[in-house]
Amino acid sequence: MQRHYAIIGHKAPSSGNLNLNDLPGSGRIDVLVRAINSALFISHGIRKDTNITLHLQGGEGPDRRVFFDGEILAGVRPDERSIAGQIKAVMKLPIPPIGQYKEITQGIFHSGGDISDTINSWKNEGVDINILDANGRDISHISKKEKVGIILSDDSPFNEKEIEQFTEYEKISLGEKWLQGHSCIAISQYIFDKL
Ligand SMILES: C[S@@+](CC[C@H](N)C(=O)[O-])C[C@H]1O[C@@H](n2cnc3c(N)ncnc32)[C@H](O)[C@@H]1O
Repeated sequence: MQRHYAIIGHKAPSSGNLNLNDLPGSGRIDVLVRAINSALFISHGIRKDTNITLHLQGGEGPDRRVFFDGEILAGVRPDERSIAGQIKAVMKLPIPPIGQYKEITQGIFHSGGDISDTINSWKNEGVDINILDANGRDISHISKKEKVGIILSDDSPFNEKEIEQFTEYEKISLGEKWLQGHSCIAISQYIFDKL
């Protein structure tokens, strides 16, 4: 089962200089880094069946998407500083046009665009799209599919525009308590592994 994760960084700047000593103060990049770690890293390896798209939708200027493809990813260690270092390098580059993914290092690509563009490409690829939401339907009802897509937010709630975009998709819940995004990813990976 191929897993596609998308996390929306509402405050994460798409360009500029990233201070590796203050990831929380840099638009909560720490939240995105932990999401990458939970999605892609297992003990002594990388999940080849998983990719994750970070949506850097904060700061000035156009949005940027950074795509980490577990199938081919190499040269990234699971520690937060190493992952953040990769994001820092991406943020210095000009943003490619929307939909045109440019490879930066093996398994890391970037493009312009926001979550609506990711949704469109998932639809074209036949990904079954789901929104992580504590008020949704319990995840135990999810069935096995070839390609599952999971959208989650950073530390902020989805905004009105996003909620509007998400109306047609299944909301899946991991319980009533609101958890941190990376924990949600780890739990969902466990559940997908068991399907
Ligand atoms: C730290 S939470 C965001 C909390 C934020 N205050 C809110 O109200 O959305 C980050 C994301 O994790 C996901 N999430 C957190 N708890 C969840 C739960 N119990 N079930 C499903 N998704 C959850 C949601 O996608 C949420 O946007």
